This record gives sequence, C-alpha cells and structure tokens, in this order.
Amino acid sequence: MYRILEKKVLGPQVTKMVIDAPAVAKKAEPGQFIIFRIDEKGERVPLTIADYDREAGTVTIIFQIVGKTTTQLNELNAGDSLLDFVGPLGTASHFDENVKKVAVIGGGLGTAIAYPQAKKLFHMGKEVDAIIGFRNKDLIILEDEMRQNSTNLFVVTDDGSNGNQGFVTDALKKQIEAGANYDLVIAIGPLIMMKFVCQLTKQYGIKTIVSMNPVMIDGTGMCGGCRVTVGGKTKFACVDGPDFDGHEVDFDEAMRRQQMYKTEEAESLRDHKC
Ligand code: FES
Repeated sequence: MYRILEKKVLGPQVTKMVIDAPAVAKKAEPGQFIIFRIDEKGERVPLTIADYDREAGTVTIIFQIVGKTTTQLNELNAGDSLLDFVGPLGTASHFDENVKKVAVIGGGLGTAIAYPQAKKLFHMGKEVDAIIGFRNKDLIILEDEMRQNSTNLFVVTDDGSNGNQGFVTDALKKQIEAGANYDLVIAIGPLIMMKFVCQLTKQYGIKTIVSMNPVMIDGTGMCGGCRVTVGGKTKFACVDGPDFDGHEVDFDEAMRRQQMYKTEEAESLRDHKC
C-alpha cells in the first residue's frame, strides 16, 4: 500500500498529493509517469510525476478532477493509501548538454508536468524561460515554484484576469521576435495548445518536445491503447514516450482518439455520483 502523506488543493479542480513511494522516488526522472489504482476494482490511471524527493522517498502527483477515478482519488486524504503506485514508467526526458536557452511551456494542468522539466534544466545551468497559461487567474498553479526554477517567468490568462491577457503562443512569439534565440522549446498541455506551439516553432525552426498523455492501460507497451502517430509511424506513448518531437506528431489523430471514450467516462462518473 502507498500512503498519502500530504494533500493540498491547488485550485478549484486541481489537487496535489505527496505519496510515500521510496522505490519509485529512487529512480524517477522528469518526463516519467506512474500508474495508480485505488483498490482492486479500480481503473488504472497514468499520472506524470510532478516532483520527487529521493531522500524522503516521496513522489508528488498533481491531478485534475475530471472523471470517476480522479473524483475517487480526491475523496482520499492524508493517511489513506492507494493499492498500486507503479513506476517510474516511460522514457525519461533527455536534455542535450549543448542546449543553452530553453522555453518551457505549460498549459493548465500541463504546468504540473512542465515544472520538473524546468526545474531540472534550471539546475543544469540552462537559461529557462517558463511560459505558463491558464483560462483565468483562479486556475493558476505552481507560479511560485516555476518562478524559483526559471530565469524568467511569464504567466498569461485567456481572459486577462491576472493582468496579462493572451495565450502561451502569443507570449512565446513575443519572446522569439524580441530575439530570445531558443535552442529548444518544451510544450506540455492540452493537445490543441501543443499543436499550435509546434506550428509556431516550426516556422522559426526551433526543435520542440511535447509530452503526450493518451489513454493508457498496462503502461508497458503491450496493449496498444496509448498509440500515437509520430513521423508517420505508430509509437506507444508509454514506452517510446511520453516525450516526442512535436513537429512529427499527428495531433489531429490524437485529438480524435482522445474523444473516443467520452460517453463511457461520463457514464462512469455519473454512476459514481449516484
Ligand atoms: Fe498499453 Fe501503452 S498503455 S501499450
């Protein structure tokens, strides 16, 4: 059993939990994920590792309450336990030593996944511009953490309620046109956001890494549930990713696949609430 040591509400629908999982913490790297199961009848749900502390033996997860299982997870509190917490899974992000200046972009909950990437690059001595975007100011998460782990931080909101209206693509374009000269862009967030970031960076010829988060079942490359098309080839996000070259990803197909189980997911959540 994996004990929940800490629970903190980060926003209206976003919760952070620190889990006692020494074996996972020992090997975790940015970009990797875990699969948890609440109990023996529970659904297996992948979550990207938001942070880890090897000495304390803890792993931090940040999740959005969107369906039945995340609703159930959010009903648990510090002191409760999860049945399974398997990981670290996936291929860790690879950061090229030659990279000097990076833009790390987080959209909404994607900021929780972008955060360990920014932190690692910043501690490698890279110049990191963090650009994070949210629908409104009440949904902003990890602003302080991002500020502490980046050279410059830009926070934008769709409605401008934080005083800085715009999308992450607007902020990125502004920096590029001001001469930011990025060697690499890392974009993590909704598929549509990653698609538009990639369209922009392609125009400027800037290598761009995205993190794909499709439906997953086993998380070990056996079921094929997490397949994505990258460079015209089928890849499994759970073992070949979740990081991929964003200029090669078929985002339109990924968006179609993401909608496939919406009806079943809504029914499952409705049954849980009844
Ligand atoms: Fe089954 Fe990736 S989750 S192959």
